[in-house]
Amino acid sequence: MIARRMDSLTTQFFASLDERITALKTKGVDVIRLDVGSPDMPPAPFIVEALAKAAAKPDRHGYQPHTGNSALRQAWAEMYRREYGVLIDADREIMPLLGSKEGIFHLHQSLINSGDIVLIPDPAYLTYTQATRFAGGEAYYFPLLPERGFTPDFSAIPENVLSRAKLLWLNYPNNPTGASVGKEFFEEVISFSAQRGILVCHDAAYTQVTFDGYKAPSILVVPGAKETAVEFNTLSKSHNMAGWRVGAILGNQSTIKTLYRLKTNVDSGHFLPVMEAASAAMTQEQAWIAERNQIYQKRRDVLIAGLNKLGLQPGKPQASLYVWCPVPDGWTSAVFCEALLERSHVSVTPGTVFGACGEGFVRIAYTSPLERIEQALGNMSQIWASFERSAG
Ligand SMILES: Cc1ncc(COP(=O)(O)O)c(C=O)c1O
Repeated sequence: MIARRMDSLTTQFFASLDERITALKTKGVDVIRLDVGSPDMPPAPFIVEALAKAAAKPDRHGYQPHTGNSALRQAWAEMYRREYGVLIDADREIMPLLGSKEGIFHLHQSLINSGDIVLIPDPAYLTYTQATRFAGGEAYYFPLLPERGFTPDFSAIPENVLSRAKLLWLNYPNNPTGASVGKEFFEEVISFSAQRGILVCHDAAYTQVTFDGYKAPSILVVPGAKETAVEFNTLSKSHNMAGWRVGAILGNQSTIKTLYRLKTNVDSGHFLPVMEAASAAMTQEQAWIAERNQIYQKRRDVLIAGLNKLGLQPGKPQASLYVWCPVPDGWTSAVFCEALLERSHVSVTPGTVFGACGEGFVRIAYTSPLERIEQALGNMSQIWASFERSAG
């Protein structure tokens, strides 16, 4: 009954984890979730009000164009000019997506033939691999290692791989490692992709979740980037709007046109009140985002201090929602996470979920209130001695 192409897809890790945690909660266990990167705070009230006001109007309920309305595209362009110093042609160089995940998945359906190679970081956000496989492509993984600041070494990719590679995925600020880069890194990437004729897909989901004065660049700021790159962006993390499904693809026009052709056959655009509120989110007051980042920064600091006390030494991310933490000696990532969940009721994500190079690490999300993070650290310290005795 099931199509053969489904053999390439597994149920996504977080969907399965949800089931596991729901079962524990039913038994009365108070699980502290530091696993998934879903912002726990709401968007600013003016955004929610814009949605409610628009939804109350009788003429806002019909189908909408796949390219979104012009105000939404202009709002993305304005945000790109203001935040990243990038000029975007709102009619040709941007298309709204129903969340960036949707566009990331569908891009492969529109560009990848069987046998094409997609270059994917290891570790990485899961959808790049799943989308590649579902499209019949082959994933080639390049490692992101601590000694290179979790950035790729393109010179280590063999020539016979590069000659078949069609897409290159990058994501900075990075999920799951929390690594970030400067503009010079993107200059190298664009020069590499222009030489090799490989389309760069930069996933910019965390560019507005930044700390300590760091400002994350867009890859599109590099001259010539639009010839050879697209960037995926989203209001999920930047504006605490993960459930709203507001994303966009920006940059290379012919890639956007191709994805548009596919999407006209797949979905029917956004709800107009969502577009209106998203436009307000991107163009009206932004000060609340810096205040929100201060809250994340405080959580990050408390989390890192607590982990240090336990003898763990994670790096300090300048951006993103994640601490990438080494597991104690003698443990694998998966066994450590399982033991943490069972014994301290703290749920974190095994690094191996994001790829083989994630072995030896766990990803800890600070998308829970400070009190819950402190409680998680307290629970962990209570059982820590037993952990040291029983390395998994
Ligand atoms: C790296 C990365 N890209 C894309 C997404 C998906 O974001 P969206 O909510 O826009 O689909 C996520 C979500 O966690 C992510 O971590």
